[in-house]
Amino acid sequence: MTLDEILMQAPVIPVLIIDDVAHAVPLGRALVAGGLTVLEITMRTPVASASIERMVGEVEGAIVGAGTVLTPAMRQAVADVGGAFAVSPGLIEGERADGPVPLLPGIATATELMAGLAAGFERFKLFPANIAGGVEALKAFASPFQQVKFCPTGGVNAKNAADYLALPNVVCVGGSWVAPADAVRSGDWGRITALAREAAALRQRAPA
Ligand code: 3PG
Repeated sequence: MTLDEILMQAPVIPVLIIDDVAHAVPLGRALVAGGLTVLEITMRTPVASASIERMVGEVEGAIVGAGTVLTPAMRQAVADVGGAFAVSPGLIEGERADGPVPLLPGIATATELMAGLAAGFERFKLFPANIAGGVEALKAFASPFQQVKFCPTGGVNAKNAADYLALPNVVCVGGSWVAPADAVRSGDWGRITALAREAAALRQRAPA
């Protein structure tokens, strides 16, 4: 699947921090049941890789990738466990658009964006979106960088997601709000499905 095909699946990519591998499958199923099918498991916990592997194998309808991918070796590791994509908070030195899995790199400035373009990328995570200028920064990037589309992430939530999704250069947004830590810990999968359903109803725009 190409990066564009993945980013177009749903308006919101849940950013997941999984501490207990036993949570991976019910969490994935709860999100897919609510209509969010592209799931980003952050590589921040010891069970992240195992959680990706389990979700890939057991959560029907999910497109599972990894977040917090910081090195070329981590990108390769995502491919090795069957992940469909990788997300990084920044540009990974030496990494290009072509690679073992599609990569969505983070940028916060025009200079970083231009370095990403030089490496073949045209889709970026604006990160941290609300601090890196938010909606106004994305509006300002639209004219000089007409081929570029974004998935703003970081400080995006149920209140402001629609403002981002209304922009022509935003394909989808990412955020952790659809899988609150307390709901995951207590196994409140019904609440997570309800949050996912609301998020999935937000409008999405196809990349031009
Ligand atoms: C992250 O890296 O944790 C993501 O950008 C999610 O940010 P959020 O918790 O503000 O949604």
